[in-house]
Amino acid sequence: MENRLFGRDIVSISDLSRDDIESIIKQAATLKELGAGPYLSGKLIASCFFEASTRTRLSFEAAVQTLGGRLIGFSDSETTSAKKGEKLSDSIRMIAAYADAILLRHPHEGAARMAAEVAETPVINCGDGANQHPTQTLLDLFSIAECQGRLDGLNIALVGDLKYGRTVHSLALALAHFKPHLHFVAPDALRMPSYIENALADGGVSFEYQDSLEDVVPKVDVLYLTRVQKERLDPTEYMHVASKYVLTVDGLCNAQPHLRVMHPLPRVDEIHPAVDTTEHAYYFEQAKNGLYVRQALLSLVMNESLE
Ligand code: NCD
Repeated sequence: MENRLFGRDIVSISDLSRDDIESIIKQAATLKELGAGPYLSGKLIASCFFEASTRTRLSFEAAVQTLGGRLIGFSDSETTSAKKGEKLSDSIRMIAAYADAILLRHPHEGAARMAAEVAETPVINCGDGANQHPTQTLLDLFSIAECQGRLDGLNIALVGDLKYGRTVHSLALALAHFKPHLHFVAPDALRMPSYIENALADGGVSFEYQDSLEDVVPKVDVLYLTRVQKERLDPTEYMHVASKYVLTVDGLCNAQPHLRVMHPLPRVDEIHPAVDTTEHAYYFEQAKNGLYVRQALLSLVMNESLE
């Protein structure tokens, strides 16, 4: 079968069709079951993280190494020429000359799109400010399919910082392919940006806002919590919205047995640690799946054919 992901930039989840998403999920399931092959043998990947990361960077770097590729890069932009005032576009042009693909996380919205325009190698967006986080969405979808047995027609609650949380922007847009019913739970100041609401409405996705986590829990298959993005709010704004929605074990007493709690992590105080041992907790499984999904994505982007 033709690999339509070969050589592509992965900048926005909206660049991927339902078929593209399904082919990545299928490849991730194969790699999870059978283990990694040498799909990056002879390839050099640049891992450029201008913003803090634990899971995204380490799972991507683990994916490169387990696929037989090699890595260059940095996780602290203070040690790069950005510190001397170099423009990102100049840095990216050079890095693209050294490596076969670029993994980029950056605090500015649109950074990955700009990088993809100047780089001749594929650029994979590992999070650009409050905009998008497409690879998190791919692992979220893989995890939803794994724990619910399907992606179509689910009731999914997105809770927390829907304004600055890039994971929920990408996830809501991707879910539109699967006709979900979305329940949004957020402080007034942190509702979904209108461009996402408009895209959902244009795609015929039903969504509604709800005030209370308690009301939403019995209705949903997946409860996807997020932290308030403290680094993107001013301190007084943060004080007003912090710790508004916190999930406890009691808060799950009316949940359907198959409800799974997801979170892109890191959590701050949105999920009480006692929830971890309930049958509903799925966030650590979800994070583990990051490795397989990123292996799958890299193997498809870097190889014309996987035969
Ligand atoms: C998320 C991110 O960086 O956007 N983390 C992650 O990649 N798993 C979520 C967050 O930081 O809140």
